[in-house]
Amino acid sequence: VAVMRNFVFLLLVLTAGSTSKTRSSWCDLGCDCRGDLKFTICSRALFTQLPDRVPPSTELLDLSDNHISIIPERSFSKNRKLRVLLLQNNNISVVEDGGFSHLEFLQKLDLSWNQISVLTEGFTLGLASLRELLLAHNRLTILDTVSFLHLDGLQRLNLTSNAISIIQVRSFSSMSTLRQLHLEDNQLTSLRSGIFSMLRSLEVLNLAGNHISDMEMSVFKPLVSMTLLNLANNQLSTLSFKTFQSIHTYSTHRLFRKLRSIQRLFLDDYFNLTCRTPPVLQDYRLMDVDTELCIAETVTVLIITVTVVITVLAAMLMGERKRKKKKKKKKGENIDTGQCHCN
Ligand SMILES: *[C@@H]1O[C@H](CO)[C@@H](O)[C@H](O)[C@H]1NC(C)=O
Ligand SMILES: *[C@@H]1O[C@H](CO)[C@@H](O)[C@H](O)[C@H]1NC(C)=O
Ligand SMILES: *[C@@H]1O[C@H](CO)[C@@H](O)[C@H](O)[C@H]1NC(C)=O
Repeated sequence: VAVMRNFVFLLLVLTAGSTSKTRSSWCDLGCDCRGDLKFTICSRALFTQLPDRVPPSTELLDLSDNHISIIPERSFSKNRKLRVLLLQNNNISVVEDGGFSHLEFLQKLDLSWNQISVLTEGFTLGLASLRELLLAHNRLTILDTVSFLHLDGLQRLNLTSNAISIIQVRSFSSMSTLRQLHLEDNQLTSLRSGIFSMLRSLEVLNLAGNHISDMEMSVFKPLVSMTLLNLANNQLSTLSFKTFQSIHTYSTHRLFRKLRSIQRLFLDDYFNLTCRTPPVLQDYRLMDVDTELCIAETVTVLIITVTVVITVLAAMLMGERKRKKKKKKKKGENIDTGQCHCN
């Protein structure tokens, strides 16, 4: 990611600082071809379709802020060197099968702010080098097993602000290298186990701003590398701590063991949280039983907000790895809080 950022930054510097602009017969009217024809900038060129003449040496093609509505099959066949393709802010509703299939070196594809409603199998065909895919602000409603089929090397997937209400089991199953998954501001209502299967490298999962009211207990279980889980602004009224306990990591199998190594614990809606089970703790306020909820000396970040929604910033894990040796044996490790559901 850092390398990518530097790369993009470098491109920006180069393009901004470029004084000797190279125009050539290769360059379509409305485009600006620079840097030994490695950068082709056609932003705001009023294009309604992909330009014909883009220098074959182009590595960054910026087609943002145009009116392109279709990506025909086998596009970009003369631009196989592309590494960054920016298509945000167009009117793209159709990506024909194999539309990007010639872009075997493409690392970043930005399709944010378009009208894409379906991801067919042919959409990702050939994109084996892709590291980052941005599909924020489109019209996706469903993710299924073919949606991301060929994205074997993807690290960041941004699906913010679509209308996704259904994620089928194993939708992300080809993405064992994915590190960040952004699903905030969609229409998810429940999280079934199996939807995040195979995401063993996932570190960041953002589900904020959905309508999630119900989660199956083992839904986070496959996420063995997770360091940040954001569930803020959903409709969770009952939280089962077992759900979070099922987050398995290489270093620990129990959330509350992790909490011991964390620095701070924030409970915004502290006073309104009451315990429902076990019966012996029913209607007790969380604050009254908190010692049993193992808020130990060193806590980093667990946020439960007023809307009774939880943001587990599990920098926990990191913290724990560092302090692992220090705190191997601790008193009260076998207090079982797995039964506490809080309202
Ligand atoms: C967007 O694309 C649709 C067809 O998919 C077309 O009817 C509409 O005119 C386009 N809008 C703009 C602003 O280009
Ligand atoms: C996701 O994409 C949207 C639109 O491009 C952007 O505003 C947002 O910052 C992105 N999120 C992340 C985490 O990169
Ligand atoms: C619980 O929340 C409600 C609003 O949701 C608030 O009016 C009330 O004062 C809260 N109770 C406590 C004990 O904080």
